[in-house]
Amino acid sequence: MSARGLANMALQFEVLARHNLARASRLTLPHHVVQTPMFMPVGTQGVIKGITCDQLEDLGCQIILGNTYHLALRPGADLLEQIGGLHKFMNWPRALLTDSGGFQMVSLLHLANITEEGVTFQSPVDGTPMLLTPEESIQIQNKIGADIIMALDDVVKTTTTGPRVEEAMHRTIRWIDRCVAAHSRPTEQNLFAIVQGGLDQNLRAQCLKELVKRNLPGYAIGGLSGGEEKDSFWRIVAQCTAGLPEDKPRYVMGVLKLTNASMATDNRPLDPSCTCMVCKKYTRSYLHTIVTKEALGSQLVSYHNIAYMMKLSQDLHTSILEGRFPRFVQDFLQKQFPNGD
Ligand code: GUN
Ligand code: ZN
Repeated sequence: MSARGLANMALQFEVLARHNLARASRLTLPHHVVQTPMFMPVGTQGVIKGITCDQLEDLGCQIILGNTYHLALRPGADLLEQIGGLHKFMNWPRALLTDSGGFQMVSLLHLANITEEGVTFQSPVDGTPMLLTPEESIQIQNKIGADIIMALDDVVKTTTTGPRVEEAMHRTIRWIDRCVAAHSRPTEQNLFAIVQGGLDQNLRAQCLKELVKRNLPGYAIGGLSGGEEKDSFWRIVAQCTAGLPEDKPRYVMGVLKLTNASMATDNRPLDPSCTCMVCKKYTRSYLHTIVTKEALGSQLVSYHNIAYMMKLSQDLHTSILEGRFPRFVQDFLQKQFPNGD
């Protein structure tokens, strides 16, 4: 690793095996060693709904995702800094990643508006106008203290077309330079850049080129999963994956939500092939009955969903290591989508 690399990053990334663009790797972060491919559950405000940190550790969860916007509102960045960061606040010893806040504001608050300065929005507390700049997003994330922090990006809906998509891509590049300049803890926290450019291959290519030049510790593929066709989604993921550095981690943002599975009223486990505590002990009809009425219902479903994603990540990792990745994917897709959809 170059001296420049060492100064700019707080991670070590070792590719253990690969099949084409799929990699099995070991990612050493300040708080934990994470193996990839890895699923990252969303704990917006420092909680995964209904699941304790001990349970997350038991389930093999290695990294969780928090949101700058939500954490800045409550408990607030200064309080988190005083306590010694989000790790201490939520008593989570393993890795954390925080998203930069812009995406959440734009998707949650209809009144958010993006200018060159940053994202402007009305405070959900008292309606006063507020502004989140790239510098502020990074300052807040430095206080929160996650292992990986995300650059503030200009995100447009995947269904948007025309000059706005190009503007957002260029602005995302201008903002990454502001984020890098504002980042005060580069040897303790890794700043990842986010590739934008909508569904346009030229825009994605330009964005990739500019961001890769900046030699960041890792990269994310953003602006997807907004209702685009599956073909478009896969085309952009393939292009970005091929264009990102081979020796750095990459992260596809926002592709999986832990929503409740639709459950028939039958007496099988949620997933007959799953060995988690929930699938050992509860039937679909029981879960179906309590899921909307009792907190326990959603807790059990979350527990299974995380167990399922952890097992899938582990199986993908092992299949790459053992040279049987294509076969594994084929069998998985066959099982999940027997009708080919
Ligand atoms: N979460 C899902 N997609 C995105 C994205 O494009 N940018 C950011 N910052 N967060 C996301
Ligand atoms: Zn299960």
